Amino acid sequence: MFRLPIPLLIIAFTVSVALADQESEVPTALAVRGTPTIDGKVDEIWAKAEKVKVNRPVKDLLKIDQAEMATATVQLLWDDRHLYALWIVSDKHLSKEAGNDWEQDSIELFLDRNLKRSTFYQFDDAQYRVNYEGKRSGGGDGYLESEIEAGTVTTDGGYIVEMAIQIDDVELKSGTRMGLELQVNDSHGSGARDAVAKWYHTEDDSWENTSVFATVELQ
Ligand code: BGC
Ligand code: CA
Repeated sequence: MFRLPIPLLIIAFTVSVALADQESEVPTALAVRGTPTIDGKVDEIWAKAEKVKVNRPVKDLLKIDQAEMATATVQLLWDDRHLYALWIVSDKHLSKEAGNDWEQDSIELFLDRNLKRSTFYQFDDAQYRVNYEGKRSGGGDGYLESEIEAGTVTTDGGYIVEMAIQIDDVELKSGTRMGLELQVNDSHGSGARDAVAKWYHTEDDSWENTSVFATVELQ
């Protein structure tokens, strides 16, 4: 009988376990088909979309008690030309004092449209940011401010963001998958960012590295 030498067997086993681990660890959010009105008011159509929690702190950036950190519940919809996200954000203290957009109370959606999982941003990769007052900003070669629409409403416990991202370079249909990460920036009025909550990868690198994104699948 043919047998692999022991060292080769060990290497093959380690590699396959590592690959299986990587695959199983990356979560997939499901987006369901539907077109909401972008105004920050929660349309009925959102009720059919699953809820994703953005509540894992980036430890290095946590300057407040984790229990005080802003978090969000996100739902996703899609149609022929858009990915939509509804963010219900819990944040007791709203602030836009910080000069940098990413240090103001805001949410960020990171998208790797061709799912190449590159370690740098390519033409199709973009970072979309909306603060609690609806101010849009972003980055990456794939970012165009005109391709993002947002409606915001402040609530007792925080704020709501409803966003539409226009997508032209990928065919959106049931089964389409893209790289996705979600982030909440939290400022408690210190004039800077006091906490960052993520959906999946708990490092502050989603704005420059798409290989650490999770995924979204259209249904
Ligand atoms: C990050 C910041 C970064 C910024 C760049 C944010 O998502 O959290 O650390 O400087 O993006 O746009
Ligand atoms: Ca990409």
